[in-house]
Amino acid sequence: MPRRTEASRAQTPYSGSTRAGGVRYDAAGAEPHGTVVVFTSPSGGIGTSTLTALTGLTLHGRDMECALFDADLDGGGLDVLLGIEHEPGLTLQDLDAPLGHIEGEALNHELPQWDGIHVLAHTPWRGGRPDWWELEAAAEALADANDVVLVDAGRGGAIPHVPPFAKARQVMVVDLTVLGMARAKAHLEWLHGATDGAGVGGEPPVIVGVEPRGAPRHRTASSMALTEAIAYLGEDVIGPLRVTPSLCADMLEGLGIRSVPKHNRRAVGALADEIRATGGRRPAAGEEPTTRGRRRSA
Ligand SMILES: Nc1ncnc2c1ncn2[C@@H]1O[C@H](COP(=O)(O)OP(=O)(O)O)[C@@H](O)[C@H]1O
Ligand SMILES: [Mg+2]
Repeated sequence: MPRRTEASRAQTPYSGSTRAGGVRYDAAGAEPHGTVVVFTSPSGGIGTSTLTALTGLTLHGRDMECALFDADLDGGGLDVLLGIEHEPGLTLQDLDAPLGHIEGEALNHELPQWDGIHVLAHTPWRGGRPDWWELEAAAEALADANDVVLVDAGRGGAIPHVPPFAKARQVMVVDLTVLGMARAKAHLEWLHGATDGAGVGGEPPVIVGVEPRGAPRHRTASSMALTEAIAYLGEDVIGPLRVTPSLCADMLEGLGIRSVPKHNRRAVGALADEIRATGGRRPAAGEEPTTRGRRRSA
């Protein structure tokens, strides 16, 4: 399969003429309609995929057409997390973008839905790793056909290879612990490089602090930790995202995520506000960032 280059895309002679993996492809079109937001965290297991999904639910509840894109190539299984793995439809393993372009509405149509949200899952047990240009084509297609595309990028390995991810607004999910903060600082640095300078002339990543699991119940220091996190990172931190045993229990029982838990609505709502306020994109050169320097807690 040819690797896509700018030249090959520009010279593509087809328009809507090929079909592969059940999706129609055509030549690359204009700027995508929707916006791409990339979620990463410095370490696995802290709830990044769950937060991506909860944010999708919240934005969808605000009448935004949403897609969830599982680009955690070392993990995957967003469909299982959501409890929709038996729904018919395409996953990343079914995509084939020989012309480097996928038609957005057609892709949307062939994806399984979770509560009205289109889900492109990574299912490594069903096939090989997708190529970078396939991720790029899928991101562009989803952005064409949705108001917002929430990408679960795991630790972010795909970001430097997929321009729509590198250009997107970043959300960094961090553990509100000392170790979490140390890792967060390193991840912020890494993101800065991987996104070619997010935070310089654009918006810094939105940071969401997650309450540590297993902390004793009577410990109320989590909001303190949020203040400390803000001071340590020198950036706003939304949160804390609370540990919700019922959410975990539902997932363990294979019921997936059913709704945004009540005591997480404020934090997830604040993140959704932030995404809506910036349209999910980093502002163009000369455009004023909207949140830089504000201190916020939810
Ligand atoms: N807010 C939460 N409260 C309780 N359990 C959670 C919460 N968020 C995630 N979990 C649980 O933690 C596990 C890991 O979550 P996941 O979103 O897959 O993390 P990550 O994507 O960071 O690896 C899952 O089993 C999930 O049920
Ligand atoms: Mg994950």
